[in-house]
Parts: sequence; structure tokens; C-alpha cells
Amino acid sequence: MFKALVALTTPLLPEDYLSLVDPLWSTTELRGRVVGVRRETDRATTLTIRPGRAWTGHRAGQYVRIGVDVAGVRHWRTYSLSGPEGEADLTITVQALPDGLVSRHLVDATPVGSIVRLEQAAGDFVLPSPVPAKLLMVTAGSGITPVMSMLRTLGAHPDVVVLHSAPTAADVIFADELAARPGTVVRHTTEHGRLDLAELDALCPDWRDREAFVCGPAGLLDAAEEHWGEARARLHLERFTPPVRSTGGAGGTVTFGDRDVEVDGGASLLEAGEEAGVLLPSGCRMGICFSCILPLRDGQVRDLRTGEIHGEPGDMVQTCITGATGTARLDLRPAEENR
Ligand SMILES: Cc1cc2nc3c(=O)[nH]c(=O)nc-3n(C[C@H](O)[C@H](O)[C@H](O)COP(=O)(O)OP(=O)(O)OC[C@H]3O[C@@H](n4cnc5c(N)ncnc54)[C@H](O)[C@@H]3O)c2cc1C
Ligand code: FES
Repeated sequence: MFKALVALTTPLLPEDYLSLVDPLWSTTELRGRVVGVRRETDRATTLTIRPGRAWTGHRAGQYVRIGVDVAGVRHWRTYSLSGPEGEADLTITVQALPDGLVSRHLVDATPVGSIVRLEQAAGDFVLPSPVPAKLLMVTAGSGITPVMSMLRTLGAHPDVVVLHSAPTAADVIFADELAARPGTVVRHTTEHGRLDLAELDALCPDWRDREAFVCGPAGLLDAAEEHWGEARARLHLERFTPPVRSTGGAGGTVTFGDRDVEVDGGASLLEAGEEAGVLLPSGCRMGICFSCILPLRDGQVRDLRTGEIHGEPGDMVQTCITGATGTARLDLRPAEENR
């Protein structure tokens, strides 16, 4: 039967026709349809997305890479899944950045019925198995999203302490759900100041004995790494923001395929290429997902985190954390495959 359909529909495959009728049908390109939009705060929205047949589900705390078209250009970003494990539909909760290209589009201009591209869930910010008897979650801002997935999955776990911070009451995402959870402290930082981890001794005296999950701005994560010190093995971190960049790069001219782009000393190859209108693959934009790699044909490049200059023909370059140093040439083939 399938062979007969293939013969009838060649050069297109039956799947190509079915994908036209229902974009979620495709098994080669994973897509999702937005089936729910829920405003959480002035700046944050939860999108419920019905994934295509190929979606294999997620573990609480993982993220998904989402491809959205903004002004005719496909952009990929990474969002934590905020729903519990095991649900057929997936949810992401996006907080719009004031000048954020994709976050503003997802929060303000993605109605029910929109189609997005998806990749399978990934990430190791997940609950250990078996689930530890005592847990501590320290979150701030949109950093609550992967932890909310964990809390929703855990249900009535008897001993979870949650310390969440947001500027004001109106900025607290999932405010009602958090208020209903025993062991939760929500802090409004404009009124009471930022959480100083030295306060843990008072807020959660047995914090050293707990498996801890921390997600929020870079400052909170860096402070947690330092504060946990020798208890670091019990600390799990999820970063939404890029690492600090080294300074003093010379910049240079980088050729993407056949396009020459001037890259200044502080810019990543990804940012500079996009700015110049080159379509490039990307995901986390901070060096963790390896979606942005392109092969170096010649020249050398600079690691923006360490300042180290490196590169030989054939090396794979992570364009989101790499800058220019003199001239270099990158092959664009993987970028096209990623579209
Ligand atoms: C593993 C992971 C999980 C994530 N989960 C979520 C989530 O659940 N909810 C959510 O709202 N976001 C989440 N993010 C952040 C998200 O991927 C985007 O970075 C964010 O939405 C900004 O994208 P944009 O296109 O709007 O901003 P862009 O237009 O790319 O950037 C605008 C400006 O904001 C800066 N910027 C970029 N990202 C951030 C950031 N995260 N924080 C502060 N400044 C930034 C840029 O340097 C630039 O100056 C996650 C990121 C990662 C890596
Ligand atoms: S975009 Fe994720 S590693 Fe570069």
C-alpha cells in the first residue's frame, strides 16, 4: 500500500502531502502547534504546544530548542519546559526581554494556531533517580520555569524548600501555585533586596544536606557555586545567560561561505554574521548546546571566554562563543542543513 502511494506521489513522498494538510504529521521535521496561550505576568507568557508525532517527551527540568520565524527569518532559541513529565502537550514559559527579538515575539505575537519548529528535549538539569528525600530550589525571575516542571512532577513531595525571587509581586511567574506550596518563600527584591546566600543558614538551616537546584541570573549562579564550595556535588545549576566574555580582542574579517563580514573585537561570530544578514544555526547562544558549530576552512579564531586564539583547517567552531582575530573563513554547509 505504502509502495503504491510512493509510486503515485513521486517525486514527493506521501509524507510531504500529509505535512501540507497537517504540519505535525512530519517525522523528519519536528514541529508543534500552539494550542494555548496564558499570560502569567505583564512580561511572561506560557505557550502550550502540541508536538508532532516524533516528539519523545521530556524529563522535568530539561529544555527544548524552538525555531520561530520573525519577519521572515528563522531564529532558534532555548526554553525550559515548564510542564510536568508525561504530558502529551509541552509548555514553555517565556519572559520577554526589553530588546529581546524572539522572547518578545513569543510573548506578544504568537497566537493559538501558530506553528513552531522543535527539537527533542535535552539537558541534564534533572531530578536524580530515585528522587532525594530533601530538596532545595533557589530561583529568580524566569529561572523558576525548569524548577516548576520539577515541582509539578513531584506533586506532594513532603520536603521541598523553594526560595524564589522576583522584583515585585506582579513579576512573580506562577505566583498562585507557589503561594499554595508549603515550604516556599517568595522574595520581592525591590522591597527586600536580593537574596544573599548567607541567609540560607536562617531560611533553610539544613541546606547542606539537601540536593539543590539553582536557576536564575548569572550572579546568583556564580554566588551559589562559591557558597556551596565543598558541598558542590549536591548543587545543580542551569544557566540562561551567556558566560562573561574576555576583553581586548582584535576582531577581523570573517568569510561565511562567500560573504565577508567585519567582526569587531567583542562580538561573537554568530552575532556579527546575523547582523550582516547571514543565516546561521544557533540554539542556546552561550556555548552549551553545540547547535552553532561550523567548520573552519582557514585562519584562526578567538575563544571569547578565555581569550585563547586557536584553529586549524577542519576544526569545528562554536560560533556563539568565538570571536575574530584577523581573517578566517567558515564553511556554511551545516547551517543550511539546520534550516
Ligand atoms: C538552557 C536554557 C533555558 C532557558 N529557558 C528559558 C525560559 O524558560 N524562559 C525564558 O524566558 N528564557 C529562557 N532562556 C533564555 C532564552 O533562550 C533567550 O536567551 C531569551 O528568551 C532571550 O532571547 P531573545 O531572542 O528575546 O533575546 P536576543 O534578541 O537574543 O537578545 C537581546 C539582548 O538580551 C541579552 N540576552 C540574551 N539572552 C538573555 C537572557 N537569558 N537573560 C538576559 N539577557 C539576555 C542579549 O545579550 C542581548 O543584549 C533559556 C536559555 C537557556 C540557555
Ligand atoms: S548556540 Fe548553543 S553552543 Fe552555540
